[in-house]
Amino acid sequence: MDYLPIFLDLRDRTCLLVGGSETAARKAELLLRAGARVEVAAPELHECFKRLPYAEHLSRVADVFSDELLEGKDAVIVVEEDVAAAKLVADAARVRHIPVNVADKPALCSFILPSIIDRSPIMVAVSSGGESPVLARMLRARLETLIPAAYGRLSSLASRYKTRVREAIKPEQRRAFWEKVFLSPVAEMVFSGRDVEAEAELNAMIKDSAANEITRGEVYLVGAGPGNPDLLTFRALRLMQQADVIVYDRLVSQPILDMCRRDAERVYVGKERDDHAVPQEEINLMLVRLAKEGKRTLRLKGGDPFIFGRGGEEIEILVEHGVSFQVVPGITAAAGVSSYAGIPLTHRDYAQSVTFVTGHLKDNTFNLNWEGIARQDQTIVIYMGLKGLPMLCEALIKHGLTAETPAAIIQHGTLPTQRVITGDLNTLPSLAEEAGLKAPTLIIVGNVVKLREKLGWYQPELHSEQAHRTPLETPDHLR
Ligand SMILES: C[S@@+](CC[C@H](N)C(=O)[O-])C[C@H]1O[C@@H](n2cnc3c(N)ncnc32)[C@H](O)[C@@H]1O
Repeated sequence: MDYLPIFLDLRDRTCLLVGGSETAARKAELLLRAGARVEVAAPELHECFKRLPYAEHLSRVADVFSDELLEGKDAVIVVEEDVAAAKLVADAARVRHIPVNVADKPALCSFILPSIIDRSPIMVAVSSGGESPVLARMLRARLETLIPAAYGRLSSLASRYKTRVREAIKPEQRRAFWEKVFLSPVAEMVFSGRDVEAEAELNAMIKDSAANEITRGEVYLVGAGPGNPDLLTFRALRLMQQADVIVYDRLVSQPILDMCRRDAERVYVGKERDDHAVPQEEINLMLVRLAKEGKRTLRLKGGDPFIFGRGGEEIEILVEHGVSFQVVPGITAAAGVSSYAGIPLTHRDYAQSVTFVTGHLKDNTFNLNWEGIARQDQTIVIYMGLKGLPMLCEALIKHGLTAETPAAIIQHGTLPTQRVITGDLNTLPSLAEEAGLKAPTLIIVGNVVKLREKLGWYQPELHSEQAHRTPLETPDHLR
């Protein structure tokens, strides 16, 4: 994050504007709308200044800038073509620790002005950190269409009822209550101008909620996909943003965690390098306890919760304890990673079936039905197979596949750190070792791997700074 977005209270504060052009008038308008008094230093003012709202709070105090003008100012905006002149003002403001913005000269700014969607009191600010104002403005335009103009009125309604809700509804139930209100017909009534009806409905909801004091928690068992946040489902995202507690694994990437509700409690149950994972039984009971405390508990897992994710075990316990739950499927690694590697798992010419297996070694052996797996017309996808790769390839050859059967191993599929190594059952173990791959990795065996050369479309910039970070780190038992 290059900038910290903050909202400045400039009501009845005095700001200095250096410049009298049309652009300067637009900056003056922003300051005036925020309730500030504006003093302008400029030889003359563009005629737009005459049409500004709250113009009575604006005065031209000097022809040119001088240090004394900074006295008592809470912010400074400079609209000045000449870099040296602009720098003079910016430096003087910085010395006095007064926030300063210089139009079109980000290097001289201590704050930048975002694109704004004004639904006062709701404000949405969009910024590209000065790098691409056009992109920020386009994004703003899209958001404008998504946020009805009446959002401000909805917020004012909520504000008027804050005290009543506080008196009628217990603190731990308030957040859920307001979420229910904003998703209810009350919001639609306000948006369509039926404010009286909306108030009556809101009153009824307060009465109902006050009478029905028992809140029941719920568990959301959610698949977060293979790591790339773009591959989350809408439902996953909605639940991520409303859960009170997030219980997550090591495979859930940081960008995905960043999309969860900011103030939600986070419980990490994955395995640290030198530490032990929280045992499965403990996780199961933790989910039951949290839900019984009335919390909306998000159990967030990599990929799909029902594919090598132990999701089934977790909800079995919930059923036994009468805890309500919902399951949100995620894109499993086989689907997400193969797509991003350009390897279709089935293809009329190469594979008529696909099988998902775990390559996790137990007591140095695999517990797999090799006859069912090692077939020419089938694609084999192996999860958790990095450590056992040489033994896996050997076993597949022993059970009937040729040593020349194409095979690929993909590190960090769907992410900027994705790497794809292709070879065959004979060569893949040594190629993977040479490449020094890091888990999580997925192995794909079968003739479909040949298509990668033609269909590989996702080529993340391997030499970028980002590619050298490790967004997913996997404990030994998943390698
Ligand atoms: C315990 S399993 C969980 C699988 C998960 N439930 C799913 O549906 O993808 C973990 C294994 O999934 C595979 N995996 C998950 N994310 C991956 C990714 N982004 N790239 C490559 N393999 C991945 C790796 O084989 C890893 O060892």
